[in-house]
Amino acid sequence: MVDVSIQAMTDWVSGGSNGCGGGRFAAAIATDQLVERTRTTVGQLFNADPAGVCFGANMTSLTFAFTRAVAETLRPGDRVVGTRLDHDANVTPWARACASSGAEHVLAPFDAATGTLPVENVIELIDERTKWVAIAGASNLLGTVPDHAPIIDAAHAVGARVYIDAVAWAPHTTIDIAALGVDALVNSPYKWYGPHSGILWMQPDLLASLPVFKVRPSTDAGPGRFETGMPNFEAIAGIDAAARFLIEESLERISAYEQSIFEPLLTGLLSIDGVHVYGPHGPHGRTPTAAFRIDGVRPADVSAALANDKVAVWDGHNYAVEVVGQLGLADSGGVVRAGISRYITADDVQRLLATVDRMATTGR
Ligand SMILES: Cc1ncc(COP(=O)(O)O)c(C=O)c1O
Repeated sequence: MVDVSIQAMTDWVSGGSNGCGGGRFAAAIATDQLVERTRTTVGQLFNADPAGVCFGANMTSLTFAFTRAVAETLRPGDRVVGTRLDHDANVTPWARACASSGAEHVLAPFDAATGTLPVENVIELIDERTKWVAIAGASNLLGTVPDHAPIIDAAHAVGARVYIDAVAWAPHTTIDIAALGVDALVNSPYKWYGPHSGILWMQPDLLASLPVFKVRPSTDAGPGRFETGMPNFEAIAGIDAAARFLIEESLERISAYEQSIFEPLLTGLLSIDGVHVYGPHGPHGRTPTAAFRIDGVRPADVSAALANDKVAVWDGHNYAVEVVGQLGLADSGGVVRAGISRYITADDVQRLLATVDRMATTGR
């Protein structure tokens, strides 16, 4: 987490103006103001109507709550289109909604050779029966950023709505929700230097009409419809500060820095004999996240060796079970995933490459 976000959380819990909202006394009024201020900041970060900003525990919980409500609107014969590029948190919630409503859930494959998602793979599944299209902002495993605009257009042309999982996308790029024209977009502030929490933005008309699961006394207007129970106000204080930090820093600048650090990582991995890189091999249409394997070495052993050399990476499927399934790597340990963020340096990358080079040569 970035210092200003940690400080904002600390200040809120220790500042004395931290009552639960909804009261007529100063501390409660200050809390209500914090929540509304944070919706405005988040709206500014994503160029979105603040009236559609809903806070929650994390992307997965928000998505399950969302699809549970959507399921109430689905009928047998309806269709939901997803992709195999997605994290399971944008697959299973939709599968469950379809299973409970009798709708059909279909997944578009990506191109395993290039790690890209040809838009026609998704568009050809979108037809008159389609009610929702759920796509990745970016793949958390391969880094692939699909071409969202034609998919959104195709969905809207048949009256379907679009839900974007932007968890792996938001930390690396400027997202303009108004320009995208998407109906709902979800992401997790803990991926952009804020606290563990989730944000789901949806079109205010969708928010007003969705048959959400809520208790009777809670508000039936605005984001409060979707925010069950007492909000995590301390996290909301941290989100406000983290979002302001991103606005000030500018995602263009963060992205340019990350790309400059990522480029030697990608070209370095591609140049080592015995290393196989999954996902796009070029700098375009991707986030600075690389997925790879070393011939003859288990991904878990690679990440353990890297941990020894003070490089923190993940191995396995990273919950992108459809991705490793389509790549045929589900039973052999998945991949090693190395991601660049704002605090990673060129030295870190060189340390990673030296270890991978050694393992590719010696197997250890
Ligand atoms: C692309 C993507 N979607 C969804 C999730 C789940 O997010 P959360 O932990 O906020 O539920 C993750 C988590 O890493 C992710 O990378």
